[in-house]
Amino acid sequence: MATLKTSVLGIKFENPFLLSSAPPTASIKGIDQAFELGWGGAVLKTITPGDIEMIEASPTYAAFKDGHKVYGFENIEMLSHLSVKEWLKGIQFLKKKHPTKVIIASIMAPGKKQEWQKLVQTFNKSPCDAFELNFSCPNGVPEKGIGMAIGTDPELSAQITKWVVEVSEKPVFVKLSPNVTNIVEIAQAVEKAGADGIAAINTVQSIMGVNLDTFVPYPSVNGKSTYGGYSGMAVKPIGLKCVAQIRQMSNLPILGMGGISTWKDAAEYIALGSDVVQVCTEVMVNGYGIIDALKKGLLDYLKAKKLKSPKELKNKAISQLSTHEKLPKKKKVHPVIDDALCCKCGKCVKICGESKNGCLSLIKGHIKLDKKCCAGCSLCSIVCPLNAIKMK
Ligand SMILES: Cc1cc2nc3c(=O)[nH]c(=O)nc-3n(C[C@H](O)[C@H](O)[C@H](O)COP(=O)(O)O)c2cc1C
Repeated sequence: MATLKTSVLGIKFENPFLLSSAPPTASIKGIDQAFELGWGGAVLKTITPGDIEMIEASPTYAAFKDGHKVYGFENIEMLSHLSVKEWLKGIQFLKKKHPTKVIIASIMAPGKKQEWQKLVQTFNKSPCDAFELNFSCPNGVPEKGIGMAIGTDPELSAQITKWVVEVSEKPVFVKLSPNVTNIVEIAQAVEKAGADGIAAINTVQSIMGVNLDTFVPYPSVNGKSTYGGYSGMAVKPIGLKCVAQIRQMSNLPILGMGGISTWKDAAEYIALGSDVVQVCTEVMVNGYGIIDALKKGLLDYLKAKKLKSPKELKNKAISQLSTHEKLPKKKKVHPVIDDALCCKCGKCVKICGESKNGCLSLIKGHIKLDKKCCAGCSLCSIVCPLNAIKMK
């Protein structure tokens, strides 16, 4: 019998799907509703001691869309607008009503030891299950020396982790930024400093585009713009890479996220080393109700693969990750064209000629391959407008 139940550092999860720290966890009412609908837990929108300026710009978001589908999402949003007092009351309420749900307090203080430790000590008294240290927001706060300004500096990351671990009575996860040359360096620094686990990734620093009439980058805030944080489907490959790299060097639990929109994305994150996963953008664009499909899809998959729980899926893809040098390169794949599907548009022929070796030709209404010159790169199958080319 397969189950979605799992546990991390003794914390029990009824399923591995958590809402990440973001708008879907910005209100007690919202989290309550999400728990009713079946989410396994929530990481609260990042809580600060209240002395960080929190004025929001409008608009706050911009999107990379095709029709109704949101592929990428940029935000320049600040942190939680609820006070510490409101959160303390809210956590009490949520835990009483939903004792089986996991609540992780995401926190950020403006730099000093005393401020970090005071915030931790305050939430030690609450029934939240763990802390997540936000060392990774790329917008609004790095200019104040916090958020990503911490998570891009291994020494500062280690220092603050030590301060927190010194006083924390709960497991401490550190949420890392992908906006670094080597995320492993930061993960190792916080692990050495005593972190109990890693959360990755926060958003990818970005500019969504530029309005070519006004020359204002998006999102335009009364004619000015700034760097934002990119999330959603488009960042999944970056998140997967970060999680895998961390897993290859560490056995710490990982709360994986970045671009999860389906159960398959979640399964990939777990196979690359995540213990549980978090979701934000997909919930922002499609609502809390996506949890049903996430849970059903993952459970059916576990059953089909004869895996008993997410723990048995964890790390399954890690041993297949190698260096480029060690890849088995002798055997090559070649395109096989489905003649019935192929519309003979000649795109594959043209592209192979311009960007590769020119091994395809259109002869008497059929695509022909010169196998000897084919590099087996798969570009032809990627550009085929009808998916008529499979690599075999
Ligand atoms: C509008 C918005 C606000 C966010 N606010 C926070 C935040 O307060 N604290 C935090 O740690 N991460 C924050 N994040 C980052 C998300 O928690 C998550 O790490 C990131 O969006 C990647 O996941 P996704 O692709 O599922 O959205 C925010 C993301 C978005 C889109």
